Amino acid sequence: MKALVLAGGAGTRLRPFSHSMPKQLVPIAGKPVLFHALDALRATGITEAGIIVSGTDAAIRASVGDGSRFDMTVTYLPQDRPRGLAHCVMIARDFLADDDFVMYLGDNIFAEGIAGPVGAFVRDRAAAQLVVTKVMDPSQYGVAELDATGRVTALEEKPAHPRTDLAVTGLYCFTPEIHEAVGRIEPSWRNEFEITDAVRWLVDQDRPVRAELLSGYWADTGTLADLLECNRVLLEGITGAVHGTVDSRSRISGPVVIEAGTTIEGSTITGPAIIGAGCAIVDSHVGPFTSLGTRCTLTAAGVEHSILMDDASVHGVRLQKGSIIGRAGKVSQGGSGAASHRLLIGDDSRVEVPA
Ligand code: G1P
Repeated sequence: MKALVLAGGAGTRLRPFSHSMPKQLVPIAGKPVLFHALDALRATGITEAGIIVSGTDAAIRASVGDGSRFDMTVTYLPQDRPRGLAHCVMIARDFLADDDFVMYLGDNIFAEGIAGPVGAFVRDRAAAQLVVTKVMDPSQYGVAELDATGRVTALEEKPAHPRTDLAVTGLYCFTPEIHEAVGRIEPSWRNEFEITDAVRWLVDQDRPVRAELLSGYWADTGTLADLLECNRVLLEGITGAVHGTVDSRSRISGPVVIEAGTTIEGSTITGPAIIGAGCAIVDSHVGPFTSLGTRCTLTAAGVEHSILMDDASVHGVRLQKGSIIGRAGKVSQGGSGAASHRLLIGDDSRVEVPA
């Protein structure tokens, strides 16, 4: 079985971060979203992944490389522009050959991994298997109707009046039958080849299409609020491990990961939290539910419920509500006598200050 990972797409809703990095490389709980996907796929035993990339592919190629850090071989499959999930299957035809495969949308997070649903597909080997989950607003997703045995009887893409609350998540398992199906569909109103239409074609042909109901946490990390929520949920599952140096004036409580080369001095770290390699945390408070990338510096600062990317720094400021600071972003107090805020903010950034 192979994996097809979709990592194209502009991620406009993740601006400003998606201005300078593909949305799939935004870090959550200490590693890029896409790495969570590859780790989850590898945990099912899959060792060959094709990754669909678009304009942002240089950064993805640079960080994923040949896949050896995941113990996988990775093949890059360029797509000229977003033309739909079924189009991704079309351009991956040679890579996939006649193997069964798992298609994984590279911005999706399944907190409990994907071994359960993938195992169900290996066992039942339906022509196609969806993974569905109950959501509050199904109209933003593909929506499935199932019979009592888990067989899909109807499927609609973003219906105005959903007939169930079962949203289709970004994890699909296919036999090679999907290749005929993607060849039978026309572009949708948004001018994309929808995978939902291809799967519905199989349903209409009376081919076995099943759905697994997901009970654990799932998110497609589409918005900045999703990133913080996902970070919180994934941090809940971590096990502490301290590789850095913690001085005697510091206190660590709860599960905390501190990577090598990081120094903690006179600070309080409240887990769950992850502090990347090469950080310096001095007279500060970190956590809970906070992850820092590599080489972050904090002095006389507080950071809670937040994500700091590589090389970010906070000096003399307490960030108590969820904040996301991009790579090398700096937050600091003004000099003595500074009576107002001074802001140097990039495109599409957002700042909220006390009233
Ligand atoms: C796609 C699918 C949709 C599915 C969703 C899951 O939507 O078309 O059926 O529910 O992914 O993330 P898109 O993100 O392309 O709008």
